[in-house]
Amino acid sequence: MKIGFVGAGKAGSTLGKYMVEHQACVSGYYSRSRASAIEAAEFTHTSYFETLEEVLEESDALFLTVPDGAIENVWKSLQQYPLTGKLICHCSGAMNSAVFSGISQMGAFGYSIHPLFAIHSRLQSYREFSQAYITMEGSMEYLEFWKKFFSDMGNPVRIIDSGQKVLYHGAAVAASNLVVGLFETAARMLMRCGFDRESGEKALLPLFLNNCRNIADSGVEGALTGPAERADEQTIRRHLAVLSEEEKEIYLPLTKAAAEIAQRKHPDRDYKELFALIIEMQEKGWV
Ligand SMILES: NC(=O)c1ccc[n+]([C@@H]2O[C@H](COP(=O)([O-])OP(=O)(O)OC[C@H]3O[C@@H](n4cnc5c(N)ncnc54)[C@H](OP(=O)(O)O)[C@@H]3O)[C@@H](O)[C@H]2O)c1
Repeated sequence: MKIGFVGAGKAGSTLGKYMVEHQACVSGYYSRSRASAIEAAEFTHTSYFETLEEVLEESDALFLTVPDGAIENVWKSLQQYPLTGKLICHCSGAMNSAVFSGISQMGAFGYSIHPLFAIHSRLQSYREFSQAYITMEGSMEYLEFWKKFFSDMGNPVRIIDSGQKVLYHGAAVAASNLVVGLFETAARMLMRCGFDRESGEKALLPLFLNNCRNIADSGVEGALTGPAERADEQTIRRHLAVLSEEEKEIYLPLTKAAAEIAQRKHPDRDYKELFALIIEMQEKGWV
């Protein structure tokens, strides 16, 4: 199976390099700019192509590693060429394979294959890519092939329901980008206490990093500490008295989730007062 890439950015370069390192057959790259395609081809020791038609001709499977907004247009451009037997994949988290409308009538097979991974660097991310959890959905014909392809390279793989992709991607954003937003919220609260940004971020970092490690080692129940776990409704009430309206809107639903984890962790402990406080605040419209 010869695999070609349309889009020589972070995902395309990383996937291609990773595949080559695992002895997969990568034909090479076509991209919007010739320079990107050449750079990715040199990086992966593969070829670059001047046209979409050439990369298609030289590949059995194509990964459209272009921005989500460009996938449909690249698909439309591909449809002017013979596609019988070709496997067409994209890597979007939120979109499913239905974007390849009419693909089965053209005798081709469509897939969304999404790495649950922050690919931050075109040239470095491939080194850590074996940690990436891969989810996929699409035509039945080659789904098991793709599953085995990535499993054999050492990645955990899961086939997911195409109707759940948006929710699935929401979960990925919550565990990734929104954690950055939460860290920023905490840093701003420390800045209101007189910290400058740099010292505030530095002060919060051990809390943040140890929590991530504790979740990895012991799961959310093992990692949870703090007033919600202790059912310390008084402290939470005092926090709410000093938080801004916007901070309360962040703090309360997360405290509710923490209290639910705490209740699972300590089924014998009494969290009634804490949940009553949360309901009281919900009724005030804060959750
Ligand atoms: N980065 C991540 O963390 C990550 C993780 C999982 C999934 N993904 C998915 O991977 C896909 C690509 O994301 P990315 O982060 O790799 O983006 P990126 O770094 O911006 O790369 C996109 C590449 O596509 C090229 N391109 C844009 N429009 C094109 C077109 N019409 N025809 C051909 N090439 C075109 C770009 O052009 P140039 O030729 O000008 O360079 C660029 O090289 C997206 O679907 C994204 O959701 C990304």
